[in-house]
Amino acid sequence: MKTLQPLFDNNREWAARISREQPGFFEQLSKRQSPEYLWIGCSDSRVPASEIVNLPPGQVFVHRNIANVVVHTDPNCLSVIQYAVEVLKVKHIVVCGHYGCGGVNAALESASHGLMDNWLQHIRDVYRYHREQLDAIDDPEKRKDRLCELNVIEQVANVCNTSMVSDAWKSGQELHVHGWIYRLTDGLLHDLDVTVSG
Ligand code: CO
Repeated sequence: MKTLQPLFDNNREWAARISREQPGFFEQLSKRQSPEYLWIGCSDSRVPASEIVNLPPGQVFVHRNIANVVVHTDPNCLSVIQYAVEVLKVKHIVVCGHYGCGGVNAALESASHGLMDNWLQHIRDVYRYHREQLDAIDDPEKRKDRLCELNVIEQVANVCNTSMVSDAWKSGQELHVHGWIYRLTDGLLHDLDVTVSG
């Protein structure tokens, strides 16, 4: 017996349904992708990129990591941004965080998490930049929520400061960088109104 049989069953049902509803969908899509959006989000299983904006395959180019961090020395994330901007010519880059982010919460704790602490250090930096504002929030849950928001805003700035994005703007390419946050408890997205378009 094949391992994880239920997943293969799900896949067959899914592919059959799409082919039934839109004959030729996969054949057409296999020729090329031209997504308008690059999604940079958290790896959290509860925040699936295409699904929460209800878009089919082919529309969203995706990069996810713990706590949706954009680091200027991370060749993985930078390569995704470069390909999305220079080759796919996406029109929108969305950095999407979420409230209740385990990565953000872990960065606020003093407990050790092993290797991952090196990654979480980027969130601790965000905390350090905004310590005054964050320490003024008495409610610990509200403080965590605000750090989730500030982390998104910080990562939007990091995206804007990449050479690929600034080169695109210099050459007149249409490109908007957005900061959004998702609420796990109601499934809704909120725009943090920090869109940068050049
Ligand atoms: Co998260």
